[in-house]
Amino acid sequence: MTAPAVSISGLDADALGGDDSILMRQRRDHPRLDAMMNRYLSEDLPPGEPDAVWSDIVQLVFSHAFAEETVLWPLLRRIAPDGEELTRRVEEEHQAINELIARIEHSPGDPRRAEWIRQAFTLIRQDIRDEEDELLPRLRTVFGDRRLRRVGAAWEAVRATAPTRPHPGVPRRPPGNAVRGVPLSAFDRLRDLAPGGGPATRRAALAAAGALAAAGAVTLAVRAARRPG
Ligand SMILES: [Fe+2]
Ligand SMILES: [Fe+2]
Repeated sequence: MTAPAVSISGLDADALGGDDSILMRQRRDHPRLDAMMNRYLSEDLPPGEPDAVWSDIVQLVFSHAFAEETVLWPLLRRIAPDGEELTRRVEEEHQAINELIARIEHSPGDPRRAEWIRQAFTLIRQDIRDEEDELLPRLRTVFGDRRLRRVGAAWEAVRATAPTRPHPGVPRRPPGNAVRGVPLSAFDRLRDLAPGGGPATRRAALAAAGALAAAGAVTLAVRAARRPG
């Protein structure tokens, strides 16, 4: 029988495997996201700031989620008897967030945009609760501190080269997400750096080089996370 899950939200760094463990890394990102969403919704932002906060939210949400789909959820399916059901639920949340944010990004003048943004924030908050209360505690139950830190390093390595924009057409599970998502990450990151800038051939060459580096990083990180011990 599986032990009841204890939320990681109230536990300290020692109980979660130290500062570099996957659980502490998640616990640092989630409140950052929460604070950015609150900031976006606050009424007194100077002109231009909401757009900057929005693009920070989008970049953090998608790189964070892609690394979960690539490194964490496959591990969870291996170790938890109910891993399939649990991970399917968060993958559906991630898919809904991808679809909603893609719609928001493609409809700048739509009067429903503010409502869609509120819906996206609700979904992101639900995803965070599911992870902290249900999924991540399973990793704490099964893995020792060293393994939690190794998984944390693998997740961080994938996140550093992950796509930073919504891609609802990309599968949420490996190998499809890596095969189709990793090459897009280089294009996303070029757009983040210089939207629309530079000659097309140079941008394509940079993106191809970035995609190769990203694919290598993902392969190494996934292997490291799976190694037992
Ligand atoms: Fe998360
Ligand atoms: Fe997530």
